[in-house]
Amino acid sequence: MSIVRVGGRRIELVAGDITVQQVDAIVTAANSGLQGGGGVDGAVHAAAGPQLLAACRAIGGCDTGSAVMTPAFALARRGVRSVIHAVGPIWRGGDADEDRLLASAYRVSLTLADEAKLASVAFPSISTGVYGFPVARAAPVALATAKAFLARDARCLERVVFVLFDAGSFETFVRAAGQAFGSR
Ligand code: AR6
Repeated sequence: MSIVRVGGRRIELVAGDITVQQVDAIVTAANSGLQGGGGVDGAVHAAAGPQLLAACRAIGGCDTGSAVMTPAFALARRGVRSVIHAVGPIWRGGDADEDRLLASAYRVSLTLADEAKLASVAFPSISTGVYGFPVARAAPVALATAKAFLARDARCLERVVFVLFDAGSFETFVRAAGQAFGSR
């Protein structure tokens, strides 16, 4: 695990599966139709149970660069209170506003968690799977957005955990944190 301290708050980088994290909210990388899917979204829906998809259908959709919150259903057994469905951009080569949309998906998710008075939230690496966003470019965006939010905007949020599923993504996030913040 790697830790970045932001005042009394912290960003943690861990390798593993987001569905087993001990946090108040789990973020999933959703699509704008909130229709469920593969990757991390498939894992989160499987862990939360079929009520999660029903809740997504009731909401109907979410713009790219935004996020919506639902209960965590079966994940409540692990102490998770909410699932945040964040819609990152599909990579289109890098000149289609992807960085801003990715930062926005993180920022809206952080805002939803904080407004719900949650203290901890776990993120996957949004957009860097099926959506094709290069993880080396996404990691600094994700980390800078979390750090800025914890430093300036957070009222309740104390802990932001990035859960990286594959070793390459974990190493890339750790390197990006080292370059951006001098963390170890
Ligand atoms: N825990 C943490 N991270 C995971 C897990 C897990 N259990 N499983 C996969 N990842 P992706 P996207 C990582 O494709 O690129 C879905 O079908 C994965 O290795 O899940 O934003 C949605 O419904 C990668 O590093 O999300 C959308 O249609 C990261 O999560 C679309 O895919 C994101 O990969 C969204 O694509």
